[in-house]
Amino acid sequence: MTRQILVSRLFFTFALTAGILLGQDASSDSDKAKEKEMEPGIPVTDQLTIAKCSGCHAKDDKGNLSRISWDRTTPEGWQEVLKRMVRLNGLQLSADEARHIVRYLAQDHGLAPAEVKPVSWFLEMRQYGTEEYPSQKLRRACASCHTLAKPMTWRRSKAEWQLLANMHIGYYTVAQFYAFRDRAPEPNTPEAANFRQPIDIALEYFSKNYGLYSAEWSNWHAQASDPELKGRWLVTAKAAGKGKYVGTLTIDNVSPGEFKTEAVLTSLRDGSTIKLPGKALVYTGYLWRGSGKADGIGSIRQVMALDADQSKLEGRWFWGDYQEFGFDVTATRDTGGIAVLGTDVTAIHAGDADVPLKIMGQRFPSDIAAGDVKLGPGLHVTKVVSVKPDEIRVLVTADAKLNSGHRSVSVRGQTAPNALAAYEKIDYIKVSAETALSHLGGTVAKKGFVQYEAEAFISGADGVPHTEDDISLGPVPVKWSIEEFLSRNKDDDKEFVGFIDQNGLFTPASDGPNPQRRFSTNNTGDVWVVARYVDKDNPKPLEAKGYLVVTVPALLRWDEPEVGQ
Ligand code: HEC
Ligand code: HEC
Repeated sequence: MTRQILVSRLFFTFALTAGILLGQDASSDSDKAKEKEMEPGIPVTDQLTIAKCSGCHAKDDKGNLSRISWDRTTPEGWQEVLKRMVRLNGLQLSADEARHIVRYLAQDHGLAPAEVKPVSWFLEMRQYGTEEYPSQKLRRACASCHTLAKPMTWRRSKAEWQLLANMHIGYYTVAQFYAFRDRAPEPNTPEAANFRQPIDIALEYFSKNYGLYSAEWSNWHAQASDPELKGRWLVTAKAAGKGKYVGTLTIDNVSPGEFKTEAVLTSLRDGSTIKLPGKALVYTGYLWRGSGKADGIGSIRQVMALDADQSKLEGRWFWGDYQEFGFDVTATRDTGGIAVLGTDVTAIHAGDADVPLKIMGQRFPSDIAAGDVKLGPGLHVTKVVSVKPDEIRVLVTADAKLNSGHRSVSVRGQTAPNALAAYEKIDYIKVSAETALSHLGGTVAKKGFVQYEAEAFISGADGVPHTEDDISLGPVPVKWSIEEFLSRNKDDDKEFVGFIDQNGLFTPASDGPNPQRRFSTNNTGDVWVVARYVDKDNPKPLEAKGYLVVTVPALLRWDEPEVGQ
């Protein structure tokens, strides 16, 4: 069943409550009092927005539109709302009008950088490993259907949080029984004294911590404007299974806040390049939303944030039917002169001699000598093999005893911090993601892959593994396998869920019933993904595991944001 049908069935229940949900009803039951707007609103000043919305969202004498003036969110949040207004509530908009309104609302009813930061993973469409929940009841109320990050991308008045809960009940009646309300304990029992419904805990939490006004927003809104980004930016990127990339992002003006872009990334692993022509919009003065098409990959979306001094863009460029593939990207303004971007090798072993190392960068002078390249304590450049403007090749020898840890790479005083590591012995390896979700597909739906990576670690200054001070030495080549996660009698998931290749890419099996399987069930299951690493320092291979759930395809999807287009 598609979502459209599901929603239109609920529409009748909903239409009855629409007046209330618009905040226009003054009837007297107890919830109505909670929905009465008591806080000052944020006036809507854009003419097109007023023209399109005020037919249903009444305008008051201060210029507030009902509901809208008491909400703030991201461009994605505003886009999701507009789509619902169009689909269910009868709003008519052209694509250009929608773009204009989302831009305006994100500007005047948006989020400040500090408000976006904790949920940037959600906007960057990263697989959520573990979300932290203030309480289990809150989790049940608001993270049963979507992540808690979804409401965390909103700021609202107290009445608006209540109306949001009503909206859920209107559209998704099951929310009441499934998430918002528990069966109350018998009256006059000790449990009854402290009992609170999940929805009450949730609304109190959001009203208190995610209110309409904040110091961060006052400060940001006063100064947010379309940034000047035209020019050349230097990019460092890494992707699970692909390693590190360096390159450039060239940005050209189209109109204020709108840009034409061209990125070129070169793999430090195999020298291959990716060319990505595209375009981008910047919302709220700092939220970069771009898109482009790369040969061999297809459509790529870019979600980044510009930092406060406007010299760095950071975020994720991603693709895949489940947005499961992506680069972690940092772009800094090219300010001219020598720039050091990174090295091909991520870690050098103590005692190794004449290790070939490539240093990537910009405008390296041809007369670079061994003394111009500094790799920090214990690492020595013994020879400069070749110099090109964007690449220096050297040989490196490491002391037999050294302090294991990161090293910055400097060329004539220009530095790439923590670009490299030096180590005596790998203490353990870790599989990322430690928990992951893959979707069966290939028959009806698209497959949802998982790209695994194994990273090596040293235990850090405290000598204790798996603590805060541990240091990553970067990805290491491992042997991948799948093992059973015993969760039931005669568990045989490992034979059916799919396979992992030796580059760590898990490909799920096909969707639909499998006649080869007991009771012809489909190929779902949960397994361990195991990485095994062998080196001369460790008598026993190092091993790490990730927990993988292979589930059915996501046939019912939330909207894909198009705010970059
Ligand atoms: C044809 C009537 C209609 C128009 C036009 C309309 N809306 Fe709505 N709007 C509704 C109704 C009904 C609700 C309550 C139900 C819901 O949330 O879908 C609502 C709710 C909302 C909410 C609250 C959603 C939430 O998350 O709680 C926002 C925000 C909103 N509208 C924004 C807009 C904006 C912005 C426009 C103009 C671009 C607009 N609406 C135009 C009918 C309309
Ligand atoms: C029964 C499943 C379910 C539960 C439980 C649930 N949500 Fe939602 N929520 C949804 C769906 C589905 C949507 C998408 C609505 C749409 O199509 O625009 C949504 C949308 C939202 C939005 C976007 C609002 C908008 O106007 O587009 C916010 C914010 C939100 N939920 C917050 C919450 C909070 C807070 C709670 C807990 C009080 C909660 N949700 C519990 C299913 C749920």
